[in-house]
Amino acid sequence: MASSTLICETQPWKDLKAHLDDIKNTHLRNLMSDTERCKSMMLEFDNLFVDYSRQCATADTIDKLLKLAEAARLKEKITSMFNGERINSTENRPVLHAALRAPRDAVIQNDGTNVVPEVWQVLDKIRDFSERIRTGAWVGATGKTLTDVIAVGIGGSFLGPLFVHTALQTDPEGIKSATGRKLRFLANVDPIDVARNITGLIPETTLVVVVSKTFTTAETMLNARILREWISSSLGPEAVAKHMVAVSTNLTLVKKFGIDPENAFAFWDWVGGRYSVCSAVGVLPLSLQYGFPVVEKFLKGASSIDQHFRSTPFERNIPVLLGLLSVWNVSFLGYPARAILPYSQALEKFAPHIQQVSMESNGKGVSIEGVPLPFEAGEIDFGEPGTNGQHSFYQLIHQGRIIPCDFIGVVKSQQPVYLKGEVVNNHDELMSNFFAQPDALAYGKTAEQLLNENVAQHLISHKTFSGNRPSLSLLLPSLSAYNIGQLLAIYEHRVVVEGFIWGINSFDQWGVELGKSLASQVRKQLHASRKKEPIEGFNFSTTTMLTKYLEASEDVPADPSTHLPNI
Ligand code: F6P
Repeated sequence: MASSTLICETQPWKDLKAHLDDIKNTHLRNLMSDTERCKSMMLEFDNLFVDYSRQCATADTIDKLLKLAEAARLKEKITSMFNGERINSTENRPVLHAALRAPRDAVIQNDGTNVVPEVWQVLDKIRDFSERIRTGAWVGATGKTLTDVIAVGIGGSFLGPLFVHTALQTDPEGIKSATGRKLRFLANVDPIDVARNITGLIPETTLVVVVSKTFTTAETMLNARILREWISSSLGPEAVAKHMVAVSTNLTLVKKFGIDPENAFAFWDWVGGRYSVCSAVGVLPLSLQYGFPVVEKFLKGASSIDQHFRSTPFERNIPVLLGLLSVWNVSFLGYPARAILPYSQALEKFAPHIQQVSMESNGKGVSIEGVPLPFEAGEIDFGEPGTNGQHSFYQLIHQGRIIPCDFIGVVKSQQPVYLKGEVVNNHDELMSNFFAQPDALAYGKTAEQLLNENVAQHLISHKTFSGNRPSLSLLLPSLSAYNIGQLLAIYEHRVVVEGFIWGINSFDQWGVELGKSLASQVRKQLHASRKKEPIEGFNFSTTTMLTKYLEASEDVPADPSTHLPNI
């Protein structure tokens, strides 16, 4: 494919469009009865099991998708990524997040330099620092051990670490290693989030980690200044050196903020924010809470998937096949959304993280060459753990719109519970739903079945389920740090595969800039308006809303003295 050719102009894309008629004549009820087909749609790797037999697809569809991958030069693009080529062309950067979890002896080049030694230099610094904090070798300004951590950051500097923290919180190894410690995340600039974070903590025993790739994000920097004040008003300004550290690519701004660059943990511009959980962004706060050895297992799980993704033939390659099937669902079957449904409460923050990884990466309207796309790229991701979601939005998924679902199950619960005399234990009850839902979606229920069950005539249409609703199931052996790393890397690479097929840049995020610059115009106006200057330069709607807001909050001082939340 010539570099400026859009993927939709290639023959494999056209063949898939033509193939839609074959698929429209099938129903999952029939497809599922073909055991050979189902067998060919199951994958196993490193104790993971993936079943995509409930996708509206045949062996022919997979063949055609693999041809599409060839037309998109998927293999070459994956190789270019791992080789450190500047595939993020609008920012002129390589995309090397896989290097963050590469083994110490791996070689991954950026501009002729192996980046793995510098990755390990930072990891070793984190190991050492987190051990000193955890053992009390590094103490706060009054000599007390720092048992609590507030990580200040937003977006990619927040969602991934929060997902992993939430998942490890109930893991027996996680619990043991985090005894006596607290980890909190301050993301929102909303003062309520500030209040929630500092409530119950005291500066004397708290370490603040400011996490920002750029060290310019308005919300993060305001929150960081608030916490700096929280510390210095209680312990004196010199205490900041003992109570605040940073994670950033911008060490100049770290220093300007007042944090000693010695106490800063670097990462690199070849790590996209949403792909940064395996850098110091995630590894530092998580190591402070759980210890580096636990976090290292998480990195190893992710690395295992990196190697699988890089070297496994596409017909057995989990992220590649999942990515291709997503493209099939979005671009051919016309299903724009995807539900991420982990049957594990420990994964409650997984969907929010993948929302950013997927939608910030692939929510694009032009090709990587800047040509407007004549098709929709990107997927609308949302999700909740099962079975909570079942009692919320599954009605729409079963009888309303068609939303391909990812069911994620775990064989061994982190926290088994048994009650004598019950038919099944809690985890088996949970997993009964994990196994039942995909079949309910795939098979549905016909009017004929309902008649046989003597359902009243006037309820038949209400109780009919069309079925033929695609899903895939991913079964993890347990939810250890290692498995959490595997899960993360599968989704990261799957999103990248989708972007490579659509021919877009999955590594930039220009779409977030306009709102930021408009907010800065409003910020200036609010500052002026608090000093009673008139509102200028906004449209009628915004002017009206600003006026109402300002009139109703006249008591806000124009030049306030510091006031920190106290709840
Ligand atoms: O506004 C979006 C964004 O740029 C994300 O891409 C990023 O993860 C987040 O803001 C936070 O950025 P930083 O880590 O530079 O503070």
